[in-house]
Amino acid sequence: MNQQQLKELLAQMSLEEKIGQLVQLPGYFQNGGTITGPAGDLGLTQEDLRLAGSYLSVIGAEKTRALQEEYMAAHPHHIPLIFMDDIINGYRTVFPVPLAQGCTFNPDLVQQGASVAAKEAAASGVHVTFSPMADLVRDARWGRVMESTGEDAYLNGLMAAAMVRGYQGDLKKKGTIAGCLKHFAGYGAPEGGRDYANVELSLRTLKEDYLPAYKAAIDAGVAMVMTSFNTLDRVPSTANKWLMRDILRDEMGFDGALISDWGAVGELVPHGVAADFAQAAQLAIEAGVDMDMVSPSYAKHLKTLVEEGKVDEKLIDESCMRMLELKNKLGLFENPFRDAAKEEEDALLLCEEHRKAAQDCAEKSFVLLKNEENMLPLRSGQEKVAFIGPFVNNKFLCGSWAIFSDDQDTVTLKDALEKQESDSCISFAAGSRVMDRDGVVQGFQKQIPEETLDEEFALSQAIEMARGADKVVLALGEHREFSGEASSRGSLTLPRCQQRLLDEVAKVNQNITVVLFCGRPMDLRDVQNKAKAILVAWFPGTEGGPALARTLYGHCAPQGKLSMAFPWSVSQLPLHYNQLSTGRPFHGDYKAARFGSKYQDMPRFPLYPFGFGLSYTTFSCSPVTLNKAVLKKGDAITAAVTVKNTGHCTGTETVQLYIRDVVGSVARPVRELKGFRQVTLRPGEEKEVCFEITEDMLRFWDIHMNYVSEPGEFHLFIGSDSTTENKAAFTLEA
Ligand code: NOJ
Repeated sequence: MNQQQLKELLAQMSLEEKIGQLVQLPGYFQNGGTITGPAGDLGLTQEDLRLAGSYLSVIGAEKTRALQEEYMAAHPHHIPLIFMDDIINGYRTVFPVPLAQGCTFNPDLVQQGASVAAKEAAASGVHVTFSPMADLVRDARWGRVMESTGEDAYLNGLMAAAMVRGYQGDLKKKGTIAGCLKHFAGYGAPEGGRDYANVELSLRTLKEDYLPAYKAAIDAGVAMVMTSFNTLDRVPSTANKWLMRDILRDEMGFDGALISDWGAVGELVPHGVAADFAQAAQLAIEAGVDMDMVSPSYAKHLKTLVEEGKVDEKLIDESCMRMLELKNKLGLFENPFRDAAKEEEDALLLCEEHRKAAQDCAEKSFVLLKNEENMLPLRSGQEKVAFIGPFVNNKFLCGSWAIFSDDQDTVTLKDALEKQESDSCISFAAGSRVMDRDGVVQGFQKQIPEETLDEEFALSQAIEMARGADKVVLALGEHREFSGEASSRGSLTLPRCQQRLLDEVAKVNQNITVVLFCGRPMDLRDVQNKAKAILVAWFPGTEGGPALARTLYGHCAPQGKLSMAFPWSVSQLPLHYNQLSTGRPFHGDYKAARFGSKYQDMPRFPLYPFGFGLSYTTFSCSPVTLNKAVLKKGDAITAAVTVKNTGHCTGTETVQLYIRDVVGSVARPVRELKGFRQVTLRPGEEKEVCFEITEDMLRFWDIHMNYVSEPGEFHLFIGSDSTTENKAAFTLEA
């Protein structure tokens, strides 16, 4: 349809029909399902269902086709439904969780993952995914760090844009779905790391640190945006006119459709800014929220609000038009079924090519934190290795957002090792439960079967196995349901049962490698004391097992870099490398700096910093050279280093560039990531790695809230993680 035809359609629609386009309901309403949780009893009628323009959580080619057909036949204007779902790290073929994808420092790989997800989801009738989540995160207690790509705005922006390109490509083409950027804005900074809690951010921090990654996704053309649950400056986002109209639309240039988060319009009531759902609907539509996800507010109250003159019908028209435009962008008026086809599903879902892509991404997302005495790689056929722990033969490796996957499709570490290695050298034992018996887990999306394990027997069996082995690989970690939505944690250590396993095994065999499965940085103080090697596997997805088996035996070398620091302890949170200097900076000398900004009883810095990650080989990096010391506006400086593989196997290094603005009109971060390059080098090989520094990379929100650069001195750091001291200085000319 062209714009004129859309306008004509809008003109023919009744007020109820237009409001219907602004309502999204869960698909299970169509199956006579019941509503639970915060959505409560929505009190919707059959007529509301008939007019609601969108469904979420409906999947499957046959199901979506049938629903679409039935819906369109009953709709007065035969307007198609739009199906939206949470396709976060894959659909049926599951990739590593987004935090792990961040650790690849490889936007092309992340784009490829999103494109695989789009192809599979599109074949199953999905039109929009609620991804990417571009929320900046600094507090590992927050369960949703798993769904973010980490603590750095620049990296997050690259990854969010890559996901948008991967999902959407050209939306008129086959195998694409629209992206929905979330959660606008600042959802990643809840007080105390508690999901849904308040957010306190200064305007400058919001603009400087939190908005850029959303902006990158908007610039990449993301079709939709979702509001966040939190307040900003005490105004819930879903009612925040300034945020949605002045910032999102006017300043950031977003002109697509804006949807609330699940039930968030209705939640304006418990937030205490609306007395009832009617007022909530009024606030949200005035703020520019086009679609109400699941709350009854729009469906039940917008019509009366317009009739009473409280809401201008123009607002309804604007929002309805945006929803029609989105449907049109997806080509739904011409082909309401898009790619939904049973044969396509059969051919694409979990196909070999997709599994390979997921495995490749997993291999590149693993982060090697420690590797002493050549614990890794393991030597095939030459040493007896006991693989012990509750994650050795565990199929729940996809993270809590893989809601459309089937755990049975996941290849476990044991499955993969049995295929790859000779039986005589490897043995397996569970050793402990995943979770303590009294551990808390709130069921979310998928329930995990109750663990039935004779704990004492499992432990003694594991100890015996460890005693007889040359090396032990302990596959430990947190329960899948401990990260993700509504899964904040107050402690980041291993469950007691797994800690006990580690303690007991360490008494009989010190050649321990810990492979850690998690959706967030954890407190590894004790683990690092007892293990000679630590490999972070995150929740690696469907092909996590083969990816790990290959990595552990050196068929590929780990190359991931932490996209979020592992704290020394939970008490350090929130934590981020790009902090401000403070008036009393602390550089690490605990005795000398009595009055530095630090703790008296524990370290100031994380256990493993942002950007950190080892390989099976080692790299050296030459001092930084600059081709000039003064940067003029419109010109560029080239900064170069030579990186050499100084070890014994091929490896990939991510060379990182950080810049510090030494004196600014407002305090500037001690350093900020401004670029990175990946180089793969054979033993002994070296390569020059160059970065171009231009004036626009030095801009920030100055004392007058203008986005400018300020002349003066800058420090530039190039190295293998965010603590590098490999430094050069230059001046930006006035
Ligand atoms: C709530 C979550 O916050 C959001 O990220 C998700 O997309 C919606 N639920 C829909 O499931």
